Amino acid sequence: MNLNTCFLFIALAIPGASFAEDFSGKPSMNDIKYSSYKDFAAKWELVTIRFRKDTGEMRLTYGNKLAVETLKKGSTQYPDGAVFAKTGIHTSSDPQFISSVVPKGIRRFQYMVKDKKKYASTGGWGYALFDANGKTFPEEPKATRDACYACHTIVENRGDVFSEPFDFVKDTKFPSHSQKTSMQIKFEWKETKSLPQNISSFIPTTIVKVRSVENSKLRMNLFQGTLDEMKPILEEESKSSKTPVLFMSQDNKRFVIVIPKTSEECMEMGSYEIISTDVNNNPITEKFCTHD
Ligand code: HEC
Repeated sequence: MNLNTCFLFIALAIPGASFAEDFSGKPSMNDIKYSSYKDFAAKWELVTIRFRKDTGEMRLTYGNKLAVETLKKGSTQYPDGAVFAKTGIHTSSDPQFISSVVPKGIRRFQYMVKDKKKYASTGGWGYALFDANGKTFPEEPKATRDACYACHTIVENRGDVFSEPFDFVKDTKFPSHSQKTSMQIKFEWKETKSLPQNISSFIPTTIVKVRSVENSKLRMNLFQGTLDEMKPILEEESKSSKTPVLFMSQDNKRFVIVIPKTSEECMEMGSYEIISTDVNNNPITEKFCTHD
């Protein structure tokens, strides 16, 4: 055995578990390939568009024939083979006409693929997430998939599908099931002193209780995207309750808190602070003026 083969042997003998596994850059997640549906925008029907007010992100959702037919019937019984694809797009002002906002590049692709047997543990939908290049992000795929499912169960009454058909020719009506609700984001009061120290240390000592999200399914299964998506909901609750509002993971390591503040810079508008953990669970603080 020469020296080189000897090194190779040692490297292979180290168990894989001793390295932090890199989940990023893969062409498939949850047994769903990005390439299987990459032409969705050309081939499928546009179901609806949505806009994230806080991040300025445009979302377009498409469905294949089976998915769109089921959705339009108002049914929640999606057959195997139904697929939804959603893309998130950054936006910014057109420099030559700044009140008009234009697309500024793809942020991500998300798929939901119905296979009742294969994806039984996540309500029959297989969830997959890819970056702009059709490759996976660094987060652990099982935890991510469970976080997708946890949030989608908010609309269990719509077969875990948020999107509702929009008629691009004449739509002014709301689809029938939009008024029905099943699970919702629920808040309850929590005493500040009952909170773990890594969280309570951000809350002014004069505040004895805060509003806290109770939904245990969401709190048990969350990924970074969940924290981001929760921010506007917490802001709303903080505005109406005028108290800090908290969303924390079941193990307390990941959280978002919105804290109303007074600040001279914002003058009479008022202000608030958002403290949110990043992918390494480190808290990051941002400050904003209240707009309305
Ligand atoms: C915190 C809540 C939340 C999480 C987590 C979440 N989603 Fe969604 N998802 C939504 C909402 C709300 C919509 C409706 C469209 C929009 O607002 O962008 C949606 C829409 C979709 C759609 C279009 C079909 C539909 O239900 O309307 C797909 C596909 C999708 N999500 C996939 C995923 C995948 C894959 C993940 C995990 C990587 C995920 N989602 C995680 C809230 C969530």
